[in-house]
Amino acid sequence: MTAKIIDGKAFAATIREKVAGHVARLKEEHGITPGLAVVLVGEDPASQVYVRSKGKQTVEVGMNSFEHKLDADTSEADLLALIDTLNKDDSVHGILVQLPLPKHLDEDLVINSISPEKDVDGFHISNVGLLGTGQKSMVPCTPLGSLMMLRDHHGSLSGMNAVVIGRSNIVGKPMAQLLLGDSCTVTIAHSRTKDLAEVVRRADIVVAAVGRPEMVPGDWIKEGATVIDVGINRIERDGKNVLVGDVDFASAKEVAGAITPVPGGVGPMTIACLLANTVTACCRSND
Ligand code: GUN
Repeated sequence: MTAKIIDGKAFAATIREKVAGHVARLKEEHGITPGLAVVLVGEDPASQVYVRSKGKQTVEVGMNSFEHKLDADTSEADLLALIDTLNKDDSVHGILVQLPLPKHLDEDLVINSISPEKDVDGFHISNVGLLGTGQKSMVPCTPLGSLMMLRDHHGSLSGMNAVVIGRSNIVGKPMAQLLLGDSCTVTIAHSRTKDLAEVVRRADIVVAAVGRPEMVPGDWIKEGATVIDVGINRIERDGKNVLVGDVDFASAKEVAGAITPVPGGVGPMTIACLLANTVTACCRSND
C-alpha cells in the first residue's frame, strides 16, 4: 500500500484565498483592514525565515503587516512596553511574539502580557484554558492546521485512536485537546513513554511533534493509519542540507493510509491558520 500524500501546500493556498476574500469584504463593507504585528527578538536564523514568510503572506492576502525586530539584548521591560503599545493600537488585531525568546526573557510573562483577544497564537493562559474547557478561543496555528487536514481527509474523527507524540505547549498539548474535542480517544506520548512503538501501532491517527529527525519508522505505523508530521528538522544527507520530518517518510508512506510530507505538509498550513486567526480576531474585535 502506498499512502495518499496530503498536500498541505495546496490546502493552505485555498485557505489563503478564503482569507483574502474575507479581508476584501471587511475593507469594502466596513472600511477595516486587519493588521498583524509580529515581534522578533534576536537573530535566530530559523525564526528570521518564519517571520519574513509570515510578513510576506500577510501582505499577499491584503492585510497590514507590522514587523518589530528587536536586538537580542532587549530588556524585558522594553519588550513588555512594546506589547502594551500594540495591545492598545486599534490598527493591530493580532500580535505574535516569535518563540523561542532569548534566555533572559520570561516567555510565560511575555505571552501572558498579550491581550488574549489579539493572541493569534492561542498561547495566552486564557486561551489555553478556554480551549481545554471546550469554549470559543484562539486556537494555536499548527494544531489547527493539522486538525483541518485530518477533518478534510476523514470527515468525522469520532471514535478514532489518536496518538500525539510530543507534549509541548505549542503543539502536543493543544493538538490533544483538539482531537479530544473531535471525539478521538487520545494518547499523549513523549520521550519517557514506555513501549512507544507499541503505543503508536495502536493509532489510527499519529501526530508526530517531537523535533527529532525521522524518529518514527514505518514499522511503528498501523496499516492504513493517517500520519501528520509536524517536525521540521535540518539534517546533512549525502553532503546536502535537507529538511526532514519527525517521521521516516520513505518507510512510513508504504504502510500509512495518508501522510503529510516535509516540506509541503503542516508547515504551510500553520501560516495560513495564522492569517485566518488574524481575520477572526479582527471580526471579534468589531462584533
Ligand atoms: N516558534 C515556533 N513555532 C511558533 C509558533 O507557532 N508561534 C510562535 N510565536 N513562535 C513559534
